[in-house]
Amino acid sequence: MSAVTSPGGTPQHIAIVMDGNGRWATRRFLPRLAGHRQGMESLRRCIRACLDRGVAVLTVFAFSSENWNRPADEVSGLMELLVTALAKEMPQLQADQVQVHFVGERAGLSDKVRTGLDQAEAATAGNRRLVLNVCFNYGGRWDVAQAAARLAAQGQPITELSLHQAMALAHVPDPDLIIRTGGELRLSNFLLWQAAYAELYFSERLWPDFDEAELDHAISEYARRERRYGQTSEQLGMAADQKAA
Ligand code: FPP
Repeated sequence: MSAVTSPGGTPQHIAIVMDGNGRWATRRFLPRLAGHRQGMESLRRCIRACLDRGVAVLTVFAFSSENWNRPADEVSGLMELLVTALAKEMPQLQADQVQVHFVGERAGLSDKVRTGLDQAEAATAGNRRLVLNVCFNYGGRWDVAQAAARLAAQGQPITELSLHQAMALAHVPDPDLIIRTGGELRLSNFLLWQAAYAELYFSERLWPDFDEAELDHAISEYARRERRYGQTSEQLGMAADQKAA
């Protein structure tokens, strides 16, 4: 992992299912794509907020393996939004030292989109302040399967460690906090492997309405949780006492 670590109490890695763009638009009698454009604004605000709070890694779910089933104009609109947003945001991402990764299957994407993703990754590879993973044409099951297939093809043993290292998010630690906006209470094939010990936070806000105050609420909720990783509270207390002694 190449980013800095986060200050105490702040999750090092926040991952977000940015849900609710469509409903945000429909409530305003706008096309769904207007909701995705507003969602892009919300993502820009969220990146800024993560930079300000010293979060080291932000992972967002922008397009799932299943989103191909949406109306064709929405799919092509999302592809176009990605390419234009990347070109537009690049100077600010560079100025803010954001290292961008696209996580997901490249096959199936157009040459134009693939080139945009490759160029953005190459241009920001040396940045160190925040790692931004944009999950695009991504599914948690796809990631487990592609990692296992790659290990099998190389004749490698399949263990928790080898699988972890072969997965698409091997360059960052597992998420500490997973946020889902839009009021639904499920993971929808997001970070299935990496979510093992993440704290979950569900927000009623639609993604375009997700702001700094709601992010801070999620972070303070996270800071109150006791992460036991299978241990008991008493064991954690004893370990803390020994560390302090
Ligand atoms: C889910 O909301 C959102 C998406 C499928 C797209 C997420 C995209 C963005 C936030 C914009 C940034 C875009 C890129 C390409 C980086 P939904 O449409 O399922 O909302 P609904 O549940 O209200 O219909």
